[in-house]
Amino acid sequence: MKDVIIACDFASASQTYDFLSRFTDEKPFVKIGMELFYAEGPEIVRCLKARGHRIFLDLKLHDIPNTVRKAMAVLSHLDVDMVNLHAAGTREMMTAALEGLTRQDGTRPILLAVTQLTSTNKERMNSDILVPGEVADCVQHYARCAKQSGLDGVVCSPLEAGMVKKACGSDFLCVTPGIRFADGDKGDQQRVTTPAMAREIGSDYIVVGRPITAAPDPVAAYRRCCEEFGV
Ligand code: C5P
Repeated sequence: MKDVIIACDFASASQTYDFLSRFTDEKPFVKIGMELFYAEGPEIVRCLKARGHRIFLDLKLHDIPNTVRKAMAVLSHLDVDMVNLHAAGTREMMTAALEGLTRQDGTRPILLAVTQLTSTNKERMNSDILVPGEVADCVQHYARCAKQSGLDGVVCSPLEAGMVKKACGSDFLCVTPGIRFADGDKGDQQRVTTPAMAREIGSDYIVVGRPITAAPDPVAAYRRCCEEFGV
């Protein structure tokens, strides 16, 4: 199921509610990231869930397998729809995460692996992270590792979605930030494209922050995204 996820990168619950209260006709799928979660704690997740939003909890876990297993067990009780971790944490860490996330009855949220952040480019990856070669090869490798570990998909650039699908199958989810309108600002993102192109390349969900949250009319921007992405 394709959808647009709004990145609610706000500093407080009240700013988030102010923003979401503009949406009277629709209940957008929202992403809660580190800023909001660290400011408000798990309560913000419960409140947004109670208001009927589907939630991608974007905390990008990356630690030793045992710690990630236990942290995921805690997150599984929050009843979010999607969570994630860094593929760079290794297959062992991803397997442990999946174990921790799976509830007694066998259900669990969608688990995604972040490949390379969409703010990273080849030069930064080569010289700072010390991963040689092309970003695309690294993304493909991480996607395969995630699939082997039993995860549901990856977070990658929309430009890489087609390649990930080819490597891991069409059911393997591609959740893609780095979305900009053709006439919009790139900001700190490097590997970006438009909602329409993301759809064409193969994204299942697009994650859109500033093009919606900083727009003069966020509801209109959200609707434009949905229309261009075809949902
Ligand atoms: O404002 P913008 O549309 O750039 O927001 C993108 C959102 O997606 C941010 O919340 C950012 O943390 C998140 N994200 C990303 N790249 C990833 C994973 C998550 O930009 N690889």
